[in-house]
This record gives sequence, structure tokens and C-alpha cells, in this order.
Amino acid sequence: MEIIIQPTPQAATDVAARIIARLLREKPDAVLGLATGSTPLLLYRTLIAMDLDWSRVTTFNLDEYIGLPREHPQSYHSFMWENLFQHVNIAKDRVHIPDGNAKDIPRSCNEYEERIREAGGIDLQVLGIGTDGHIGFNEPTSSLASRTRIKTLTRQTCKDNARFFGSEQAVPKHVITMGIGTIMEARQNLLLAFGTNKARAVAEAVEGPITSINPASILQMHPVVKVCLDEPAASNLQRADYFRWVYENKPEWQTL
Ligand code: F6R
Repeated sequence: MEIIIQPTPQAATDVAARIIARLLREKPDAVLGLATGSTPLLLYRTLIAMDLDWSRVTTFNLDEYIGLPREHPQSYHSFMWENLFQHVNIAKDRVHIPDGNAKDIPRSCNEYEERIREAGGIDLQVLGIGTDGHIGFNEPTSSLASRTRIKTLTRQTCKDNARFFGSEQAVPKHVITMGIGTIMEARQNLLLAFGTNKARAVAEAVEGPITSINPASILQMHPVVKVCLDEPAASNLQRADYFRWVYENKPEWQTL
């Protein structure tokens, strides 16, 4: 894991955006895994401003609420089109988001996995992290080998996401999410986290034991993970000084 600590969310986002921009320039038909929520908003704004060519890019989103109409303002379909896709030259048929209204959810989950495989796998997966350590909507105790499937959100996640829906009761309890096994197959993972409310989950994920109680901790087993943090999100890390030292002393050819 490479931990990159920057003074502000924008500075941490700039590093992440450069990593993605480099990938899209080197591999114009790259397959990106994308996340929603507050964290990647800055990233999407920054990528839009970079005016990259998305015409051959394929995307797979991590998750979607079950039962929300696609057009609902809080569906992840709406989120992605509003905050990224409508602003770039992506081809509509290359965008994939789990179908929260599928008649046969298990079958549509299997088909989602199949489509990822057919696309050649995910080159780079963007991740946020929940205050409980979830990635995608893989809540604590999720199988570390899980695939795309239905999950029930924890009370904590419903509380955390109430800000988008006006109340905790209005947050759908069920979601479709890529599994942890699915995320671990991405060739590269890029996790972003900002703010003190993420500090504990980040420290456990980076420096704690690998455990399904903090699903993000499995990323310690992945060979290529970059974690872009602002100072508050890094504030519980025991080895923050070492991580800063590593970043400041990167060999020229490794600079991001
Ligand atoms: C959303 C997702 C979630 C969020 C996490 C953090 O697609 O995968 O894991 O990244 O809930 O959400 P924010 O960024 O709103 O704090």
C-alpha cells in the first residue's frame, strides 16, 4: 500500500486525478471501476477539467441502491451522469452500473461479473471508505472473497447517508455491490478518504490486522494500492511520518 498524505482534499485528489489521467493516456481503452458518495466528487470535477478522451473508456460502478428508480436524484445512476458522464465524451454503452431494479437480482449480479470479465477486468478501481471501513457497500463481516451481490446496509451507513436523503428512514436498506473478491481482482486500487470522520477506519485498514470487521483492510493483500488522504483522514496513522517521507523521497521515475 502506498499512502499519500496531502494537506487538503483537493491536493490529495490532484494526485489521484494524475494517476487516472496517466492511465487513460497510456491505455485509451482502459476499464475504470468508479465510486459514488461525497469523496469522489472533487475527483470527477478535476478529471472533467483535464479534458481527457473518454471515448474508448469502459466503466463499472461499485454499487447501487435497490428499489430506487434510476431517475431518482439519489440513485447512483443519477449521481454518475450528473457528476461525471454527461460532462465527458464517454459512450453510453460503455457505462455499467448495477441495476437496482432488476427482476432477478442474483442473476443480474452474476451478469455484472460476467460483463467485467468480458471487458478484460478492471484496470483501476476508485474507492471511498465508509466510517466502518466498508468499500463498495461491503459492510463489516462481508466475506473477503465475496462477488457482486445484494447487501443490507448497517444502521451506521444509513445514518451516514441520511444527509443525501433527508432522513435515515428514507435511505434504502438494500444495495447491490461488487464483492470484495471482485474489487481485489482490479489491477490497481485507488482509495481516497478525507476528514477526521474517516481517520479511524483508514488507520485500521492501513495499519490494523486484516479482518472482515474492516473490509478495506483486505487491500493490504493487493499488490497495487494507492491511498490518497488529506491530513485529517491521516491523523490516526501511527506511521504517518514514514508515509510522508516515502512520498517526498520517491525516485524520479516513480513520481506521481
Ligand atoms: C459508494 C461506495 C461507498 C462510499 C463510502 C464513503 O459507491 O462505494 O463505499 O465510498 O460509503 O462515502 P462518502 O464518500 O460519501 O463518505
